[in-house]
Amino acid sequence: MKYIDFKISENIGSIIITREKALNALNSEVLQELNSTIDLIEEKISEIRILTIRGAGEKAFVAGADIAEMVRLTPIKAREFLTFGQRVLDRIEQLSIPVIAIVNGYALGGGLELALSCDIRIATENAVLGLPEVSLGLIPSFGGTQRLTRAVGSSVAKSMILLGKKINANRALELGLVSDVCSFAELDERLGKIISTLKKMAPIAIHAAKDAIYAANNMDIISGQELEVNYASMCFSTNDIREGMNAFLEKRKANFNGM
Ligand code: CAA
Repeated sequence: MKYIDFKISENIGSIIITREKALNALNSEVLQELNSTIDLIEEKISEIRILTIRGAGEKAFVAGADIAEMVRLTPIKAREFLTFGQRVLDRIEQLSIPVIAIVNGYALGGGLELALSCDIRIATENAVLGLPEVSLGLIPSFGGTQRLTRAVGSSVAKSMILLGKKINANRALELGLVSDVCSFAELDERLGKIISTLKKMAPIAIHAAKDAIYAANNMDIISGQELEVNYASMCFSTNDIREGMNAFLEKRKANFNGM
């Protein structure tokens, strides 16, 4: 692939968007390659416990959807491009494994929207996050009006979207938009800690929890709780719940096998 570097090592999948000259902006080709990478991840899902996504270089995670491509689009072509972008991000959000966005620099427009489709976001100190689309005559359209609002509430979402207000890593941390901030040099160590914590958790329970949290944004509370109790009951059919509970009672560490 030209713009996506994908590797699996020690059960960790890693996606790097390698379009550094354009600050990793998402054009159709990048989105197509991201989509094909998700196909591959789904095929190999039993080998992958956690997925990380980052942008190449130190300057940008992703600086948005590609403005040079969008400037030429007709409404029909724009709809195709934007709907496809939404679909790719939906697929990331709905993966059964935890997905960590490493926000290493600018995460603007489609870049922040990509990060919002991930489960956990960690940011480097130089990160700048925002949805500046209205300054281009557009609105966020890879799911940003929906996911940012759900993540931080409509008041903050409006200040970021209507005023095009960009925020730094520490403000993002205060808002709960990212869970960790560190220097570029500390990134591998910080990421390693999150990965090792996630690796200790029961994979089926993680999948079920992700689905139930996803439902919280898309269902009424009664249906959501019904789904929650269905997933929880299903967990009682796994080996991992016996292992997890017995390990607690026997005062030892659990060793989950994902079954
Ligand atoms: N699309 C296409 N190219 C982009 C880009 C984007 N979103 N962002 C940056 N680039 C390109 C620049 O055009 C430039 O290319 P050239 O060297 O060929 O001129 C290169 O990346 C480096 O960028 P800058 O020279 O602008 O770098 P800078 O350090 O001066 O500024 C920046 C960095 C503040 C991130 C600035 O590049 C910027 O504002 N980028 C656009 C951010 C933006 O508006 N994103 C939203 C896009 S719309 C969207 O995403 C819609 C949606 O919801 C789906």
